[in-house]
Amino acid sequence: NNYQDFVNIDEFKYAAEKKLPRMVYDYYASGSFDQITLAENQNYFSRIKLLPRCLIDVSNVDMRTNVLGIDLSFPLMIAPTAMQKMAHPVGETATWSAANELGTSMTLSSLSTTSIEELSKHANGNPGWFQLYVFKDRAITKNLVQRAEQIGYKAIVLTVDTPYLGRREADYRNGFRLPHGLKLQNFSDLPLADVEGGLNAYVATMIDSSLTWKDLDWLKSITKLPIIVKGVMSPRDAEIAVTHGVDAIIVSNHGARQLDTAPSTIEVLPYIVKAVNGRCPVILDGGVRRGTDILKALACGAKAVMIGRPVLWGLAVGGKDGVKRVLSLLHDELKLSMALAGVKSISQINKSLIWDPSEYTK
Ligand code: FNR
Repeated sequence: NNYQDFVNIDEFKYAAEKKLPRMVYDYYASGSFDQITLAENQNYFSRIKLLPRCLIDVSNVDMRTNVLGIDLSFPLMIAPTAMQKMAHPVGETATWSAANELGTSMTLSSLSTTSIEELSKHANGNPGWFQLYVFKDRAITKNLVQRAEQIGYKAIVLTVDTPYLGRREADYRNGFRLPHGLKLQNFSDLPLADVEGGLNAYVATMIDSSLTWKDLDWLKSITKLPIIVKGVMSPRDAEIAVTHGVDAIIVSNHGARQLDTAPSTIEVLPYIVKAVNGRCPVILDGGVRRGTDILKALACGAKAVMIGRPVLWGLAVGGKDGVKRVLSLLHDELKLSMALAGVKSISQINKSLIWDPSEYTK
């Protein structure tokens, strides 16, 4: 189990499965219902073919980019995932440090086991983005947003695909709950810091399933931070989001944990990019496990991608250094893939990289 020698993300997954308690591994790994979308998130990537160009000087490949004012050493960020201390005692702060050392950025989940304040302190006031679940109790929601804004978070990532939690069957079988000693630290003094009755009941009682577009306007009225909507899958919703003035869109099916048999994110991405038509950046998450996946998402018009589970596997296996190894594998895979495809900078990546015979037969 020397994870420094692991050569791909899958090896981290297998090692994490061996190491973590069944209940925790299943919670991290599962998709909803028959996990059709879970498989499809990765499978659809594998069906897209990259078309290499040759005899281009790729002795220097520059992967740097910028998303909403955040400089990235390569176009990959860390998606918000709940309760990271189940993977490793250090949890969210280890993830932040790994991201920081690799020149990228993370989004803290509302349901984190490290508080908004603690992460920001660890990050010297530069903690990244904050993911928001809108609680039925708007005072709690407002409190989260204003604490995040005050203490240095750079954007609010509003998750819009979770009126209820998708049904992940393993969690029912395992009776999933937050292990003893862990709390949702953003609510440390409130009963809602505990997930005693399981996460589905928690979300059903606490999270506002009546959320609509007008609440986005409410959110804009209580913060000056940029607002990013996460969980858009329909090009029609992307259009509505843009007309409501969002600062970015994350195309996401929540890692296939919400509506099963929804399409993969990479499948809908080109249509969302078309609907948005350059009016805001589009980010993709779901099933990104290879540098070639990142390249494909960017070729389809994404500004950057996010990864969720691979970070949890890295964290479980090796804490901060495990996450660093996961990020550097994807970093190096993307660099090599860009060189082999014949592109030397992010701005040169476009649709022509994707094999489409109809372009050559008309
Ligand atoms: C998530 N995701 C998520 N999203 C969010 O907005 N708030 C959250 O608290 C969580 N929590 C969470 C926990 C776990 C265990 C997983 C796997 C996912 C979704 C996450 O941000 C992201 O959309 C997916 O993880 C991306 O898919 P991959 O990279 O895991 O395939």
